[in-house]
Amino acid sequence: MSDTAILLEVDGLCAGYGRSQVLFNVSLKIPPVGATAVLGRNGAGKSTLLKTLFGELTPIAGAIKFDGAAVQDEAAERRVRRGLGYVPQEHAIFAKLTVRENLLLGCIRQPDRSGIDYVLDFFPKLGQRLGQTAGTLSGGERKMLAIGRAVLGRPKLLMLDEPTEGVWVGVIEEIAERLRQLSREMAVILVEQHIELALDVAQYAYVIDRGHVALEGAAAAVKTDAELIRHLAP
Ligand SMILES: Nc1ncnc2c1ncn2[C@@H]1O[C@H](COP(=O)(O)OP(=O)(O)O)[C@@H](O)[C@H]1O
Ligand SMILES: [Mg+2]
Repeated sequence: MSDTAILLEVDGLCAGYGRSQVLFNVSLKIPPVGATAVLGRNGAGKSTLLKTLFGELTPIAGAIKFDGAAVQDEAAERRVRRGLGYVPQEHAIFAKLTVRENLLLGCIRQPDRSGIDYVLDFFPKLGQRLGQTAGTLSGGERKMLAIGRAVLGRPKLLMLDEPTEGVWVGVIEEIAERLRQLSREMAVILVEQHIELALDVAQYAYVIDRGHVALEGAAAAVKTDAELIRHLAP
């Protein structure tokens, strides 16, 4: 991969909470289109990684280069303006607001609201729920709303933390298909517990074990790597 084909480059990232270090020397390269999976058992540091990339956590060390700029010291808000989209694992929607209000907040930076029609085409189920309070949606609908809101910000890179967590199995494939669709137009980082699904959607994968990158490679190769099981076993 040549350097011009990298949208996000993370080099030697160390981060954590107070004195408790969670990430150790993590390096990643994310191309401008396509999906990259980030896998790892519970507590491995996947959410911490996304929080640090977004700017919710300040790194202890390391560099984060996004779209040509060093952003590791920038506020999250600035990174969002550069084109970073993020759907956190929890609290990704405003539960007390309606679906429509949540979507309107997603286009706060967009003078035209045509994006909302796009999102409603993308996730037709949301169209039937516009007046409903977001907190009363099903697990799958909540995830759709969270993803839809993030898409409204027209990100260059969309980071998704467990987009199928708490989603009924019958709806998971619908979400996976939408993620495939998005990843043909933008860069996607997909943190997932559903390993098969993640490696099916993504072209490249990183496996995090106790805060270190333990394994990386083309998704098809990682899928059959005997080491994978060892790094994911509880
Ligand atoms: N807000 C926090 N304060 C202190 N420790 C935390 C916090 N959030 C997560 N951790 C710890 O950081 C480690 C990695 O957590 P996390 O990044 O959420 O893992 P994953 O998303 O891979 O399940 C865990 O040991 C977890 O207990
Ligand atoms: Mg997590």
